[in-house]
Amino acid sequence: MTFMIYGAYGYTGRLVAEQAVAEGDAPLLAGRRAEPLRRLADEFGLPWRVASLEDSAGLRSALEEVEAVIHCAGPFSRTSRPMLDACLATGRHYLDITGEVDVFEAVRARDAEARAAGVVLLPGAGFDVVPSDCLAAALAERLPGADALELAFATEGGGLSPGTTKTALEGLPRGGLVRRNGRLEHRPPAHRTRLVPFSDRPRRCAAIPWGDVSTAYQSTEIPNITVYTALPGPALALVRLAHLARGLLARPSAQALGRRAVEALVRGPGPEARRRARTHLWGRVSVSDGASLEGTLDVPEGYSFTARAALACAERILAGEVPPGATTPSLAFGADFVLALPDVTRRIPR
Ligand SMILES: NC(=O)c1ccc[n+]([C@@H]2O[C@H](COP(=O)([O-])OP(=O)(O)OC[C@H]3O[C@@H](n4cnc5c(N)ncnc54)[C@H](OP(=O)(O)O)[C@@H]3O)[C@@H](O)[C@H]2O)c1
Repeated sequence: MTFMIYGAYGYTGRLVAEQAVAEGDAPLLAGRRAEPLRRLADEFGLPWRVASLEDSAGLRSALEEVEAVIHCAGPFSRTSRPMLDACLATGRHYLDITGEVDVFEAVRARDAEARAAGVVLLPGAGFDVVPSDCLAAALAERLPGADALELAFATEGGGLSPGTTKTALEGLPRGGLVRRNGRLEHRPPAHRTRLVPFSDRPRRCAAIPWGDVSTAYQSTEIPNITVYTALPGPALALVRLAHLARGLLARPSAQALGRRAVEALVRGPGPEARRRARTHLWGRVSVSDGASLEGTLDVPEGYSFTARAALACAERILAGEVPPGATTPSLAFGADFVLALPDVTRRIPR
């Protein structure tokens, strides 16, 4: 397998590198800083290459050494575009682990270019959105004509990585997002709550602006989509409070301060926390005449899952299984793809 992990010395990039080595792969490690790259490459005995996203010639020359990139350097609002440009220019496949709606929409807008270049674009090859996208597709296949989709997830244990926290901080002032009649519409954050019957127990969940409002629409063409996550009462109050202060939170100085705080304080879950944690997903499709179908999916902890899923996606793309263009996990590999990953259980009544 010949691919690059960009952002390899970040929290998730390192997990992807570690998992790749465990699976017998030898990816090229890349990122913008030499010292942490060199250390990581020495630890794993892998080749490495410094390439800044701002140096398009350098980035293209690094990509020429591989056939695909797993882009792990986020927030992707800042990093996706230059990598996409370089992949399209060099004819290399692009995978990332974003969950950001704007990034999904921007990647999808380049579908025609990707087809012309013979390149596969697969954003969301991690926990966002592999399991939820596959669950959405499996439900939609079983209830043709569904016009509404609800998805929810809840993590038991674990924690957030530095990059996820920074990405959430960046998205907080923007509020909520849903898909209505085929269009993305803004809502206040947590504008809707509901009790979700996950496989282990029900949990109170609140609506969030998750990537599936973009990707599940592409995968299923269901025009009304809401995504929820389990939020305990205090977290829900905090999210609503943050919305009241969104003007302040959106200021560049507040964002910079927040990023520095994250860098100083957030380390991400360690191996033991990842091993113990578990993630539960639930989905429901319905037709306006009243028919509906629900299902659940249980997967390992999100960051460990991300490493495995991104590698499995890259492996299949490199095997030539996916036609060029901007795609989603379920469109690329089928709704059952998630079941091929370790420790995944799906329950759908029919
Ligand atoms: N899909 C999923 O389920 C999933 C799972 C995990 C993470 N994520 C997303 O992945 C991203 C990374 O998360 P993380 O926790 O791994 O982050 P992290 O530990 O902060 O690492 C981020 C990495 O990206 C690099 N980077 C950031 N901005 C860059 C830029 N402009 N140019 C070049 N390199 C840049 C950083 O390099 P420097 O140290 O040099 O800045 C670092 O190597 C986040 O957006 C997160 O939300 C998604």
